[in-house]
Formats: sequence, structure tokens, C-alpha cells
Amino acid sequence: MNLESSKLPSHRLRLAIQKSGRLTEKSLALFLQCGLDFDLRKDRLVNECKNFPIDLMLVRDDDIPEYISDGVCHLGIVGENVVEEKCFSNPHKNRDSILIVRKMGFGSCRLSLAVPDKMNFQGVKDLEGTRIATSYPMILSQYLKQARVEAKIVELAGSVEIAPSLKIADAICDLVSTGGTLRSNGMKEVLPIFKSQAVLVRSAATFTPELDLAFARLLQRINGVIHASESKYIMMNAPTVALKEIRKIIPGMEEPSIMPLGTNGERIAIHAVARETVFWETIEQLKAVGATSILVLPIEKIIA
Ligand code: PRP
Ligand code: ZN
Repeated sequence: MNLESSKLPSHRLRLAIQKSGRLTEKSLALFLQCGLDFDLRKDRLVNECKNFPIDLMLVRDDDIPEYISDGVCHLGIVGENVVEEKCFSNPHKNRDSILIVRKMGFGSCRLSLAVPDKMNFQGVKDLEGTRIATSYPMILSQYLKQARVEAKIVELAGSVEIAPSLKIADAICDLVSTGGTLRSNGMKEVLPIFKSQAVLVRSAATFTPELDLAFARLLQRINGVIHASESKYIMMNAPTVALKEIRKIIPGMEEPSIMPLGTNGERIAIHAVARETVFWETIEQLKAVGATSILVLPIEKIIA
């Protein structure tokens, strides 16, 4: 790493994200929605934001906890699996130097044990005496200890899925998202051991007042974008008598606006924010109690 650019400035936040991988595009898309305009060049380690006191570092995701602990950056977006492996599964390292700020709602996956398709797997005890390849030795060894299974952990930095065909392992413990990697390597997922998604992490060290303020502004924007993406604005017309029922049907509905339609009091227009995903089933239920002209609209920002 270029040491000049790794000096941590006291007036600008520095946030690390995965350089290329499952979390990269989603993280960048979120920053765009937060109105952050980065002058992004993927060959550059530190990328300046033109309209906010923050710089982006593009690094290997596995290194992010270490960078935060070492004071190379203030913030990071990384899988919970990496935080667990590099900080929380190992009480002597990085544990008190990193805080999880919030879950990001993307990058969900699981760390799972997987075995070759042809293996007859009945339960974790079948792994007794086997060799298990993984990039997550800490999480795996804890799991095996709890399950009272003795196995040899073969630590690999990447391409764990090919270890059984290379005959260097009998099983693997790796991240599964769509399951495509396992399938194309003739393996099956048998036991999920850790559920994960992307999280925003920060250094536990105190920020300067200037950085504290920048962080609070950043977090408000991130919260606003995430709340908005989980919410929908619903509008419909309905019989006045159906209001109570409709309140029960719409997920997480808060304080709807209710306007009379016409003058006889029989029908109303309802506008409301639903705080959770609105499924087709919900719309069908609304129709069933007499709602018409149902509109479900995306929300761009919600600032409480
Ligand atoms: C993980 C894992 C697999 C792949 C699984 O790698 O190591 O290779 O994703 O995804 P799938 O079930 O959708 O096929 P990741 O992209 O996280 O990269 P990294 O482990 O090298 O950081
Ligand atoms: Zn990784």
C-alpha cells in the first residue's frame, strides 16, 4: 500500500469497501443514492468524494477489519462473516476496535458446510476425522468444537470449492449465495453455520468533532435511503367501512391520510407509507375488502 495515501486525515472520513466482488456494486449504488459524488478510479487506492468530506478506499474485503483496527480507515462496508471471522471469533484480535453500526440489507449469504454430491451425509458427526477446507477457520473451529466433532481444518485463501476435487479436503465450509458455485463444482450444501449480510462498521476510536458531524450526516443519509427502499407509498380508494380491515392488511402502516370521496361519506381515499415490502398477496387482500385504484409507489428518501 502507498504509505502517503494511507495516512488517515483528521478532517475527512475514510471508508473502505470491497474492491471487486459481491458487495462492490451495491455499495457504490448506495453512495450514489446518498448523493455522494466520488471521483472513482478503480486503480486508485483512495478516491475523493467531491461534495462530502469522505474518501473511499477500494481494498480486499477480508482486510477491512484489520485496516479499521490499525487506524488506516474510519469506516467500512463488509460482510458480517468477515467481521465475525476477523474480530469476534477471535477474542485477542480487533475485538474492541470495531463496532457494527447497522445492517445494510444487501449481500445476504450464508457460511455453510458442503460435501461432494455423492457423499451420503446424515449429520455433522459424519465429518469426524475428515479434512475441511475453508477461508473461515475461526468460525468453523468454533462450530466444530460446539458440535464435538474433530476434523482437520485446511485453511485456504480462496477457491475453496475446488479443494475436494484436488483431493486436499473431503468437505468445505464456504460462503453460499445463489448456490451456483457449489453446483458447478459437484458439491451440495449440507449445514448452514452462519447467516450473513453486508454491515456498516466503524472504528471504536473517538472521532474528532468534525468527523463526528460528518459521520452523523452520512448515517442519516444511509438510513434514509435504506428505510425508503424498504418502504412503499400506497394510495387507494375504499369503502369507509373497510378502513379497520385495511389497516390490518397493510404491513407496517403508520398514520394514513384519509380523505372523503364525494359527499355521502361512503367512500374514502387512503394514502399511507407501508414500512415493509408490499406483496401481490397484500394487494389481492385489499381488493377483496373493496379497495379500488390501488397504487404502490417507490419512495426515494425518508427522513424522520
Ligand atoms: C463467495 C464464495 C463463493 C461464492 C458463492 O465468494 O467463496 O465463491 O461467493 O456464491 P454463489 O453461491 O452465488 O455461487 P465471494 O464473492 O464472497 O468472494 P471472496 O470470498 O473471495 O471475498
Ligand atoms: Zn473475501
